[in-house]
Amino acid sequence: MDGRYEKSGDVMSDAAVQASEPIAAARSVDAVKIYGSGEIEVRALDGVNITFEQGRFTAIMGPSGSGKSTLMQCMAGLDDLTEGRAYIGDTDLSTLSDKELTRLRRGRVGFIFQAFNLVPTLTAIENINLPLELARREPDREWVDSVIATVGLEDRLNHKPSELSGGQQQRVAVSRALASKPDVIFADEPTGNLDSRSGTDVLRFMRKAVDDLGQTIVMVTHDARAASFADRTVFLSDGSLKGEIINPTAEQVLDYMKILQVGQFIRGVPEGATMDQVLEFFEELEE
Ligand SMILES: Nc1ncnc2c1ncn2[C@@H]1O[C@H](COP(=O)(O)OP(=O)(O)O)[C@@H](O)[C@H]1O
Ligand SMILES: [Mg+2]
Repeated sequence: MDGRYEKSGDVMSDAAVQASEPIAAARSVDAVKIYGSGEIEVRALDGVNITFEQGRFTAIMGPSGSGKSTLMQCMAGLDDLTEGRAYIGDTDLSTLSDKELTRLRRGRVGFIFQAFNLVPTLTAIENINLPLELARREPDREWVDSVIATVGLEDRLNHKPSELSGGQQQRVAVSRALASKPDVIFADEPTGNLDSRSGTDVLRFMRKAVDDLGQTIVMVTHDARAASFADRTVFLSDGSLKGEIINPTAEQVLDYMKILQVGQFIRGVPEGATMDQVLEFFEELEE
């Protein structure tokens, strides 16, 4: 790894400090999203500051209505923020024209949704190549081949979606998102429509895409087991971040979620609280 020291006691030069800074694949700064106005105003995002580092798998969890999908969509350039900024790499999305935004979404961002959204008349391989065709980009064959080798669907590539299981279809959708080698992939409840076994196949493939292919994935999920595949799980509640767990186990995520469901107290939890701080906060409440 870059930025590690051979010896202890070395003083970091400015350049070394910069080199050891993780690279942000995507980030938000004071992100606010308000739907509607007046009486029906909904503050879906209430000042979210988050960085998704390159080469990491992050899960976003939180109760229904907490702003998970909104955050993902605004960071992916599918929707715009009311206030604040969203960046893909160094690109501030608010500075882009519609045309530039479309180009960015096609080339630099991958999407995976709960519904597989494959084109039924195209084969698996044609679906995988579709975004590259749309972007009129010559596919990087070597890259696409390594994606296909990783997904393990070699013998199903000439089948139509209707001839594939749900888990296989979602793996095709993940491959399609990977094909353009995007800066970041956003997945909204990608295992929401799958049984546990197919869900696991999809999650393992996403994990491999990060570990073996160096991809960056941000996944919204309400499944603690799905979150346990991630390097980091962040928790949203009422449109703001309540904390995070690094290398979460499913049990830790479940504990944290239980705490977040205690709706009326959650506003008192300090912004950016660690697991320990959140536990401490609730223990104090109970005293
Ligand atoms: N298009 C919209 N118009 C109005 N309100 C919306 C819209 N999309 C989401 N909301 C509201 O914003 C809040 C956050 O929604 P969402 O991001 O979908 O939450 P989550 O994905 O965590 O379930 C909810 O209160 C939801 O009702
Ligand atoms: Mg949602």
